[in-house]
Amino acid sequence: STASAAQTVLAHTTDVADFPKPGIQFKDLSPLYADHEAFRAVIADVVQRRRGSVDLVCGIEARGFVVGAPVALGLDAGFVPVRKAGKLPGPTLAETYELEYGTATIEVHPEPFTDGPRVLLIDDVLATGGTARAAAALLRRAGAQVVGFEALLELTALDGRARLDGLPTHAVAGV
Ligand code: PRP
Repeated sequence: STASAAQTVLAHTTDVADFPKPGIQFKDLSPLYADHEAFRAVIADVVQRRRGSVDLVCGIEARGFVVGAPVALGLDAGFVPVRKAGKLPGPTLAETYELEYGTATIEVHPEPFTDGPRVLLIDDVLATGGTARAAAALLRRAGAQVVGFEALLELTALDGRARLDGLPTHAVAGV
């Protein structure tokens, strides 16, 4: 069930103080990925929720790749990476967004989206929502119909989903 998937994520998440900067408590899901039964159960939870509604899955670099690829295969969908600037060869579309200090840029190959596929966006953690917001905008510009966003863990106090403009958003667990 979804409740047990949430417990599984929480039981396999480690809090790391002062990473990547002083004052930030980092949520490390590496223990989840290292436990194949726990990892499989959480991926299955996402897959059962989205089955039949997705043509392509897009994962956001880097930890969104770890969760996005198995979800894509579970949904019989392809996988397309959304990458940080400068990593993808050939023609790309780019989206720049605001961080607490400065900006960040993400890129994607637009070609898989030209015919308007239904795209599920996925990442490990939803924090401020800035990354997911930018990725959804980027994919829409490429032609995608972005049907939802999935995260394994949501930092609810940051209210990131409020920045996603009504995009159907689900997190397996919240803290
Ligand atoms: C983390 C996380 C999300 C993003 C969430 O990635 O994996 O992609 O931050 O934050 P937001 O909701 O405030 O935008 P990070 O930048 O650490 O990149 P990495 O996965 O490549 O380490």
